[in-house]
Amino acid sequence: MIYLLVLLVCVSVCPVQALDNGLALTPTMGWLHWERFLCNTDCENDPDNCIREKLYMQMADAMVAEGWLEAGYEYVCIDDCWPHHQRDAQGRLQADPKRFPSGIKKLADYIHSKGLKFGIYGDVGSMTCAGYPGSLGFYEQDAKTFAEWGVDLLKFDGCYMNDMDMLEAGYKNMSKALNQTGRSILYSCEWPLYEWPHRQPNYTAIRQTCNHWRNYNDVYDSWSSIQSIVDWTATHQKILVPVAGPGGWNDPDMLVLGNFGLTHDQQQSQMALWAIMAAPLLMSNDLRDMCPKSKALLQNRRIIAISQDPLGQQGYQVGKAFGFDLWERPLSGPSLAVAVVNRQELGGPRAFPLAIATLPSWQVCDPKCNVTQILPTYQELGVLALDGKLVFKINPSGTALATLTRIK
Ligand code: GLA
Repeated sequence: MIYLLVLLVCVSVCPVQALDNGLALTPTMGWLHWERFLCNTDCENDPDNCIREKLYMQMADAMVAEGWLEAGYEYVCIDDCWPHHQRDAQGRLQADPKRFPSGIKKLADYIHSKGLKFGIYGDVGSMTCAGYPGSLGFYEQDAKTFAEWGVDLLKFDGCYMNDMDMLEAGYKNMSKALNQTGRSILYSCEWPLYEWPHRQPNYTAIRQTCNHWRNYNDVYDSWSSIQSIVDWTATHQKILVPVAGPGGWNDPDMLVLGNFGLTHDQQQSQMALWAIMAAPLLMSNDLRDMCPKSKALLQNRRIIAISQDPLGQQGYQVGKAFGFDLWERPLSGPSLAVAVVNRQELGGPRAFPLAIATLPSWQVCDPKCNVTQILPTYQELGVLALDGKLVFKINPSGTALATLTRIK
């Protein structure tokens, strides 16, 4: 009877079995080229920003020199547009020889020599989204090639694959092929994103196959894009939250802080919400030239600690009121992260009074908790009891982020 009870509790609370490759026990942190550098292959006219080996070497240099690695950002990842348009005589993928004259293995070696990890991009279908060779029919061969090159992460896109059963089989086969190489390769999928328009994805299978998975549209460098991703995630949280946990994460796409489209308040919002959502923290920005305020925010140790909390429980939206969205994320400790987003893009800063007793996880303050405000500014707010109230003052499209930690 006791066993049955444990089983029942586990079925409702424990995340389903993750892909058993020992990777992504906390959300992946690193840098990925796509949002900022797209498919820029024009190295003649734009040598500093085109997709070529030098770009990744410079990012790797900056990752180490500018404190990113120390803060936890570890992976330097190539996205689309790196390959040659044809496979070689043996059918192997090869890099564009003009833009990657030293070859991918040498680039991976360089990135490893800096103490970093190296990610590459492929596609489950016949072509990548930008029209380069896809892996359909070549899963085993490509997995072997990636392993030989020293790849540590594969982002596997889902373009040019319209049959949903083949899409599913393709993602599973590549997962197996990666495992069979014997090299630890983190597997980042886009399987549910491509499946949603046709049918509801099987998240149990996805979690058993991938280390993280994109669910929704590509992120753009704009507040409306961030809002649409966050709102989609909140709408589907009943499906998404239970499947996240150590080894497998929902991926709301890249962090775009440090680019052109977000105000500082909006950058705070993206950072806070990605930490609450237990999202991979893959930045897409120019690490060679970044505004110090964005850099400080991306490297904020208190926010990173929420993101990387070992409990690995994804946060969720608690409710909406008066143009504010309220989120919480249970943390180890026990502790609780709370985020309040001011969704009103009108007027000035507005106050949000939060009564502790109204939070679903109010128990963290029973009998008392210690409150640390992290955003918009760091402040120790002292000790609160269950009947306590917090007041945050939040700019339009900004977010207040705080942790509540139980005092015994
Ligand atoms: C898709 C993906 C993006 C990016 C591009 C590359 O749109 O969702 O993240 O990889 O393809 O072409």
